[in-house]
Amino acid sequence: MKEIKNNIFYVGVNDHIIDLFEGQYIVPNGMAYNSYVIMDKKIAIMDTVDAKFSHEWLDNISNVLNGKKPDYLIVQHMEPDHSANIKHFLDAYPNTTVVGNDKTFTFMENFFGSDIAKKRLVVKNNDTLELGSKTLQFVFAPMVHWPEVMFTYDITDKVLFSADGFGKFGALDVEEEWACEARRYYFGIVGKYGAQVQNVLKLAKTLDIEVICPLHGPILDDNLGYYINLYDIWSSYASEVDGVFIAYTSVYGNTKKAALELEEKLKAYGCPKVSVSDLARSDMAENVEDAFKYSKIVLATTTYNAEIFPFMNEFINHLVERNYQNKTIGIIENGSWAPMAKKVILSKLEKCKNITYLENNLTIKSALTKENRETLDLMAKELCKDYIAKSDNLANKHDLTALFKIGYGLYVITSNDGKKDNGFICNAVTQVTSQPNRISVTINKDNYSHHIIKQTGIMNVNVLSVDAPFSVFEKFGFVSGRAKDKFEGETLPKSDNGLVYLDKYINSFMSLKVEQYLDLGTHGMFICSLTESRVITDKETMTYTYYQEKVKPKPDTEGKKGYVCTVCGYVYDETDELPEDYVCPLCKHPASDFEKIK
Ligand code: FEO
Repeated sequence: MKEIKNNIFYVGVNDHIIDLFEGQYIVPNGMAYNSYVIMDKKIAIMDTVDAKFSHEWLDNISNVLNGKKPDYLIVQHMEPDHSANIKHFLDAYPNTTVVGNDKTFTFMENFFGSDIAKKRLVVKNNDTLELGSKTLQFVFAPMVHWPEVMFTYDITDKVLFSADGFGKFGALDVEEEWACEARRYYFGIVGKYGAQVQNVLKLAKTLDIEVICPLHGPILDDNLGYYINLYDIWSSYASEVDGVFIAYTSVYGNTKKAALELEEKLKAYGCPKVSVSDLARSDMAENVEDAFKYSKIVLATTTYNAEIFPFMNEFINHLVERNYQNKTIGIIENGSWAPMAKKVILSKLEKCKNITYLENNLTIKSALTKENRETLDLMAKELCKDYIAKSDNLANKHDLTALFKIGYGLYVITSNDGKKDNGFICNAVTQVTSQPNRISVTINKDNYSHHIIKQTGIMNVNVLSVDAPFSVFEKFGFVSGRAKDKFEGETLPKSDNGLVYLDKYINSFMSLKVEQYLDLGTHGMFICSLTESRVITDKETMTYTYYQEKVKPKPDTEGKKGYVCTVCGYVYDETDELPEDYVCPLCKHPASDFEKIK
């Protein structure tokens, strides 16, 4: 029997008889049920094995014991692939004390009756057991993969016995790569319990581990960071591979054709990895594994009995059961008279967290048309947006929408023209130096506030907070102060420079004195010193992105054609192209702030 480390021996067995592990997973290379003997002043056996291997396993133990008797049988997991031989073992070694937790013994009685294990040691989380020179510590790992599961840490030898954790499909007498079958095993069997695995990993980081002894698969004694990192990725539902997994079902080949054409397009647009699978003709567990492995997935399927094709239905059920999340998903549906698949898929995936759906999805009505292929191209481009952008050959190197990604806060700049107070919405406020503090404020020359501040040399910057409603933006952003008294009938507090500041919807304000003016053509930049600054609340600052997503009402573009102003929602309801020099009649923003209505 193989010695793993300092009198710790392997006594497990290989199973090449099994057809389906846990009654559902194909295991072409069999399965290993691991068990260990720890020889010390006291002798401990770590778990039993599957029912089919009682004698082989007891022989293995007997060879290591060499006439001695075991003191403890430690039961880390009660699933029958590890517990089936508890009774046989106790028949052979009746004086052994069985070690487990409260739940272990409940499950043991459920399987074997209340007479089982008369000598018991019930342990609590983090309890230790002295064997002589070695000390074992029990670390509970509930739901990895049953509630009673506990790991055992040999403090002396730095060996972690990890129950199903770090296990894989495959017998130990077959050479194969660890990750593929460990991943299929993980997502099939433990995938739902990512949060619980994360808890155990956090705990494992506090232990000094040199060897991991799982109940399935090889003993890991080298490069442990590799395995722990993969477990971290899997259990945190991060993606291991940047690329697209296309999972399809096809009745007469038309949906398959769309899947394969999409594959070609993705490759042409620089997708680093594409995998395509026919769900009806491949291992479902392998498909589930790939769905978690890839960052993006396309589901292509037919409508069937007003639902979706059975294999796709089963596939999605597997994903949802396992807390599928953090992915980008595209949908190709096919339906000759009433395509329903997309609607059904979306409702099935409703519970999944943090899913980004493509804007471009495809509906085929029987066979691919020219228009379908154009949509397929849009899908491919959307899926490959980041790959195209990173490609020297394919990227648009002059994409001015990059400028929209600059983060902006939103401010109301208040001033006074000598007769009335004025305020307007500005997003171009920046602290440019700190010694001394200098703030730049850039204002369009068409704006009445530019005129006032040029004359008076002072202004207040009111920093809007996230509670500011849309009416604030309407009031200060959509009309000119030359035509309207924006503070009519209001009495607002004033700062030391005599200018008003807003009494609500701001978290702070700053009073500025203009020190320099920079003529930028259409705009003027005021570089200012700070004469006063007050913090009013601790609320978050309103950003342009927050305003767009949470404050601005969605424009009513239903049934309209043309362009919509992304700032105020004004619709340019014309079918012709938006003129380049067009200015929004409502908020005065330029044509670049408009987008085409889809
Ligand atoms: Fe290997 Fe959960 O049993």
